[in-house]
Amino acid sequence: MSHKILLLPGDGIGPDIVAEAHKVLNALADSHGFAFDAETALIGGAATDAHGDPLPESTTRLAKDADAILFGAIGGPKWEQIERDLRPERGLLRIRSELELFANLRPALLFPELADASSLKPELVAGLDILILRELTGGIYFGSPREKLADRAYNTMPYSVAEVERIARRGFELARVRGKRLCSVDKANVLEVSELWRETVTALAGDYPDVELSHMYVDNAAMQLVRAPKQFDVLVTGNLFGDILSDIAAMLTGSIGMLPSASLNAQGRGLYEPVHGSAPDIAGKGIANPLATILSAAMMLRYSLGEGALADVVEQAVRQVLADGLRTADIAGGGQAVSTTEMGDAVANKVRAAAN
Ligand code: IPM
Ligand code: MG
Repeated sequence: MSHKILLLPGDGIGPDIVAEAHKVLNALADSHGFAFDAETALIGGAATDAHGDPLPESTTRLAKDADAILFGAIGGPKWEQIERDLRPERGLLRIRSELELFANLRPALLFPELADASSLKPELVAGLDILILRELTGGIYFGSPREKLADRAYNTMPYSVAEVERIARRGFELARVRGKRLCSVDKANVLEVSELWRETVTALAGDYPDVELSHMYVDNAAMQLVRAPKQFDVLVTGNLFGDILSDIAAMLTGSIGMLPSASLNAQGRGLYEPVHGSAPDIAGKGIANPLATILSAAMMLRYSLGEGALADVVEQAVRQVLADGLRTADIAGGGQAVSTTEMGDAVANKVRAAAN
């Protein structure tokens, strides 16, 4: 069976890094019999430029038809001043919403080779392996009413019991196959919506007696992530808190250029993207780190395509190139500085070598 993959390179460094992940998928096809068809479509600023819409109907159609989507990045200064609905970010938010990709998995894993790149002391981050599970299709990102008036503006942060239950269940299930600890993050001391969140998560705990549930306020969670990050296993939280905490967690690992993510719907179909943004200042310069996108492709193999063994091959290949000392500029520091394409070639070669 051939897997249908949709590539959405997007803006900025998006095309640079998605090309390298595509190269790695091609290496899997050549050497490990991985059968796939890739199509490419526009999203974000590139789509606004070409079609006047950051998520054209044709892209949505291909996205709904694909087995999985590999996404690069969107946005840039060029589109910052235009009307909100035409901005690149809206394309990403709409595709998340239209495909109901409510469960956003953002693992923060420290590769031992990169311990020096972390802004924290090595002993605080050695062996770090935590997972932030962010609710992605609700909360303040999508709540109404929202409005910007001349002298005031407002947004709304709604969560229903059903929305909290489905993300919390994912959290319990993920914790169950990892370190069996789930920390739910909210602001229940101030917000009604968080009170409901906390009650709902607590009510589910009885179904998962093997998972230890705790609760933490988001301000404390931010502090604990930089104080003692290894106390966590899985963190589950709402859309806005998850956006912020996942950037903090990313930096613990040394470079946001290393972190993949998966956004899944109830059926396990999903969109896979690096956690980092479009970095327009370095677009096309050949210095972007493609590893977060390559690792996102590995998550895609594992979570949507049922190809866990091939995901292992890709992740192993990434570990090998790091062990060989290859480093893009963002993680440089002692290693051998390589370009975006050299990094992609190196991973693809390791993938091929793994077949022999
Ligand atoms: C992310 C990004 C997006 C978000 C932006 C680009 C809309 O920051 O995926 O974390 O806020 O969700
Ligand atoms: Mg973010």
